[in-house]
Amino acid sequence: MVGTGPKRQPSRKGSMADVPHDLLGEIKRLEDLFTVDTAKLKAITDHFISELAKGLSKEGGSIPMNATWCMSFPTGHEQGTFLALDMGGTNLRVCEIILPEEKGEFDIIQSKYRMPEDLKTGTADELWGYVADCLQQFIEYHHEGEKLDKLPLGFTFSYPATQEYIDHGVLQRWTKGFDIEGVEGKDVVPPFEAALKERGVPIKLTALINDTTGTLIASNYTDDEMKVGCIFGTGCNAAYMEHAGECPKLEHMNLPPDQEIAINCEWGAFDNEHKILPRTPYDVIIDKDSPRPGQQTFEKMIAGLYLGEIFRLVLVDLHSQPHVQIFENRDISKLEKPYSLDASFLSDIENDPFENLQETHDSFEHKLGIKTTKPELELIRRLTELIGTRAARLSACGVAAICKKKGYKTAHVGADGSVFNKYPHFKARGAQALKEILDWEKDRDGKRLGRGRDPVEILPAEDGSGVGAALIAALTIKRVQAGNTVGVKDVDGMLEGCAPMKGK
Ligand code: GLC
Repeated sequence: MVGTGPKRQPSRKGSMADVPHDLLGEIKRLEDLFTVDTAKLKAITDHFISELAKGLSKEGGSIPMNATWCMSFPTGHEQGTFLALDMGGTNLRVCEIILPEEKGEFDIIQSKYRMPEDLKTGTADELWGYVADCLQQFIEYHHEGEKLDKLPLGFTFSYPATQEYIDHGVLQRWTKGFDIEGVEGKDVVPPFEAALKERGVPIKLTALINDTTGTLIASNYTDDEMKVGCIFGTGCNAAYMEHAGECPKLEHMNLPPDQEIAINCEWGAFDNEHKILPRTPYDVIIDKDSPRPGQQTFEKMIAGLYLGEIFRLVLVDLHSQPHVQIFENRDISKLEKPYSLDASFLSDIENDPFENLQETHDSFEHKLGIKTTKPELELIRRLTELIGTRAARLSACGVAAICKKKGYKTAHVGADGSVFNKYPHFKARGAQALKEILDWEKDRDGKRLGRGRDPVEILPAEDGSGVGAALIAALTIKRVQAGNTVGVKDVDGMLEGCAPMKGK
């Protein structure tokens, strides 16, 4: 369970006693730049709430608030065998998921493939060819010699897509450093299916989903208090269940106002108009030098893809200032390479348990060829704390905004992603910020805060892009079979030859 306060490493006190004046001054300046106080957190959250509503309006706003056509939470009794494909950002994962008779249970087999870096900026044909090859390999390996009917597939495509149907999705724009020509503005399903057909892979795409929607549904499958699904990983985003009556932009669909529909917020785009977020000069550079300047303002301050780069930009900037003595007379050419440090480099620094920051000293030497002094190490450590804390506190604004919009006084929020799972203190710092934003006085059971369960808790999620994708495929087939075909394009295809496989 997540506590309410950041837990400090008991073994390291840290001391700025030996830090010379110029560096102390810089530390103070960085603290001012990167610290987001309670009042600002609250102001950001309030603006966030109005932007969520704006995204659901007919006019739209900068947060896309994409309708997903996932129209209910699972009952826990979904059954069958499904394939799931996860195209997240770093890896490609293919899974076979068995949903057995037992409520809330699942079995999973999976294979992971590293996404080659050059694929991210290659051609659309290369991308779909690679994805189809991975699926083919998986099926040949796990079903060698079997005669297969079409297997239903939940495809987790974790980028903003406009979906008029659940088996359709027009990529709005690439995020997370992807830049493949000829995909934006088009439905990604036909070229994907064509690549499968070319290879004779017996698969029927049943649902195209976002990782956050998968996380929401998978988490709710095992814990029905889970009301929001979040990803804090390479990118940052959330999904939650909304009522159709709250979505003016869906009015033309004539859905009953209390019909549930999962919304993929794509909140990475929050504040693209730069009204409220406390952006630093470093955030401005990250944006300017990214493949899509002006997009994903919130994400670029929080997500794993950018944390190492923010850190690197600060250090390079300090080195260039004549009045700051940092890395003087040392070769910093390795540090000057954009995106040379990832979030795990920062995690390791925050995890360094030694008073003299020996591990940090060693990683600077090994990775960057820079021999650091004790005062420099103190600044480096403080900088990672500031960047990591800002990310966690800003993330909490999004969570609080959804809870406030929905009127959830208590809720579980399922979270996944490398930053949530691996970045030191991210959970506790997020919990602390939620407490400040939502003004809790008591915990969930009316006891003093910090003793038990916080009213809103961000907890580790179930596997959204595996189990979640399978569940959404199952829910879609089930509702189509029951005659509810709203938001489904290929109704016949889904009814024919796409019965969920029987569990083995
Ligand atoms: C980016 C994508 C979004 C995804 C998130 C987490 O923000 O645009 O679709 O959910 O990363 O992977």
